[in-house]
Amino acid sequence: MVKVGKGCMKLNLAFDVYGTLIDTQGVLQQLESLVGSKAQLFSDSWRAKQLEYSFRRGLMQRYEHFSVCTKDALNFTCDLLNIHLTEEQKLQLLKQYSGLPAFNDVALALPKLAEKYRLIAFSNGESASVCSLLEQAKIADYFSAVVTADEINTFKPDPKIYQHLLNRIDSQAKDTWLISGNPFDVIGAKSCGLHAAWLKRSPTAVFDPWGIEPDIEIGQLGELLHNLE
Ligand code: 2OP
Repeated sequence: MVKVGKGCMKLNLAFDVYGTLIDTQGVLQQLESLVGSKAQLFSDSWRAKQLEYSFRRGLMQRYEHFSVCTKDALNFTCDLLNIHLTEEQKLQLLKQYSGLPAFNDVALALPKLAEKYRLIAFSNGESASVCSLLEQAKIADYFSAVVTADEINTFKPDPKIYQHLLNRIDSQAKDTWLISGNPFDVIGAKSCGLHAAWLKRSPTAVFDPWGIEPDIEIGQLGELLHNLE
């Protein structure tokens, strides 16, 4: 909680970025021009392998920037699907990835949430990339802090990164919510005592059957205005 005015306290809301605020499917249109009908398969494989590489690097303690996981996953996906892209085409895709769009509900919900709560951007991405994404999406001003994996050289869902979040914002788990579209992130935060909201960005998304559930499930960010007190 953050002291505001006459001691009234604000809850901390830590928002995951890729897949929660920012739509990683934003590269789909460019992919369609390059790989045609394989675009969705390519995009899904690229995202899945990007996250897998972050998990493996975290576990191996072989940290590299999330953008390295993204680049390596792009190369893997080309090999997996037997698709040849030139270096220039890959550079263009990675450039597009650094300027992905925000989901449609973000611009409407964040200003209202910022009036009630303390908002933090919390991501596997490296600080410069995440800050640039938030600036390009015109939502950077709503966040009182940006907490990123490169500050402690590990990735979600390492418990150290959730503790780092709490340390950075000088808050306790009981006063902090994680808002994420990624079930592994929700489970990681819940395992460290934070509250967590799963933002179900796709109707076909499935939550992992681990027996560790989000406190709330929402379909749009605006639902947080009525669900957290
Ligand atoms: C993020 O940390 C997990 O990609 C997600 O932004």
